[in-house]
Amino acid sequence: MDLNPVRSQFPALAQTLGEHPLCYLDTAATSQKPQRVIDAINEYYQRDNANVHRAAHQLSSRATAQYEAVRDAVQGFIKAERRDEIIFTHGTTEGFNLLAHGLSATIEPGDLILLDSAAHHANIVPWQMLAKATGARIQPIPLDKTCRLDQAAYQELLAQKPAIVSLTHVSNVMGTRNPIETMLAQARAAGAITVVDGAQAIAHLRVDVTRLGCDFYLFSAHKMYGPTGIGILYGRFALLDTLAPLLTGGEMIKQVSFEQTTFNTLPNRLEAGTPPISAVIGMGEAIAFLNELPRVQIQEAESELLHYLQQSLKALDEVELIGAHPDNIGAVAFNLKGEHHQDVGILLDQQGVAVRCGHHCAMPLMQTLGLKGCCRASLGVYSNKDDIDRFICALKSVIELLQP
Ligand SMILES: Cc1ncc(COP(=O)(O)O)c(C=O)c1O
Repeated sequence: MDLNPVRSQFPALAQTLGEHPLCYLDTAATSQKPQRVIDAINEYYQRDNANVHRAAHQLSSRATAQYEAVRDAVQGFIKAERRDEIIFTHGTTEGFNLLAHGLSATIEPGDLILLDSAAHHANIVPWQMLAKATGARIQPIPLDKTCRLDQAAYQELLAQKPAIVSLTHVSNVMGTRNPIETMLAQARAAGAITVVDGAQAIAHLRVDVTRLGCDFYLFSAHKMYGPTGIGILYGRFALLDTLAPLLTGGEMIKQVSFEQTTFNTLPNRLEAGTPPISAVIGMGEAIAFLNELPRVQIQEAESELLHYLQQSLKALDEVELIGAHPDNIGAVAFNLKGEHHQDVGILLDQQGVAVRCGHHCAMPLMQTLGLKGCCRASLGVYSNKDDIDRFICALKSVIELLQP
């Protein structure tokens, strides 16, 4: 499939760094943005800029209509049953903080919270705060030798009747994909509140939260071709409605006196203050962009490309792959044997190749794997075979330089 028509919609990809055309393999950190997303944000500021929900004037009506239309678009995009199950957050991280704080009244001393060993810090630290505040316990679901979650150990942990099970849909480090359909069904059967970090899945897989049957699903727009500063906390209404707000003030109130405050209904109750209106509008345009793509073919093309990337790296003796499986999504983690990941990243950058190096906000995973860090090459809808060939060529010259 020719992905060039898609690629040409991303202006940042057309640049050169020094004499090298940009080879962008850091989409898992943040995706590039298509022109239409950039234009939608500009148009809002040039024509419709006003605060939402509040004023009687036409600009505010236009801004509010656009803002709330995006809620409908998100509802359709992830197939939520109700529009008030969609909460705008500043991103996945804020969503987890809101969620963990909001569940504090539900959790009791000694309750068990099961976490994914490959989790991003955003899906660890807020739970630690909750555990500290309530006396709950945290237990990671261990990895097996192939860097996937150990399903037998998971069954044993579920037998302890955890209160919360928070899984990663797709690992931001290795691109490994958890069998969340099965794992969520098992967690539900054990009576747990189920949470999915969808930050790395949302741009690659078609997500249906109703079919998944999870209680909460979180993601960020900037990893799905939208702007930074906006994300989604989806929650099944009955549970979402029980969450205590993290932030207060603004449109989340119904009635305020100096003695007391009553809160608004969902979704406003969990969206305090002036929201990031332009970012919401940009996210709506990113959803329209994704909806217009032939998602099934794109998913197949992305999977073929990832396989090509894995095989090309595997062919190099100096490369050590981490958790690479044929059904992974969007990313490959690797190290050059005996070399520091940061050196590799800097030398690749000098040839115009952008990869991510470090702990990838997954320090517990690095500890489990016995690594200080690693490099990660990640793909987006605009990536092509030429990117991978250029990356491999640059990596070979890094190897020659470091290991002459
Ligand atoms: C799996 C995963 N979870 C959570 C996050 C945090 O997302 P954000 O920084 O947009 O809040 C990321 C970002 O890298 C991620 O990859």
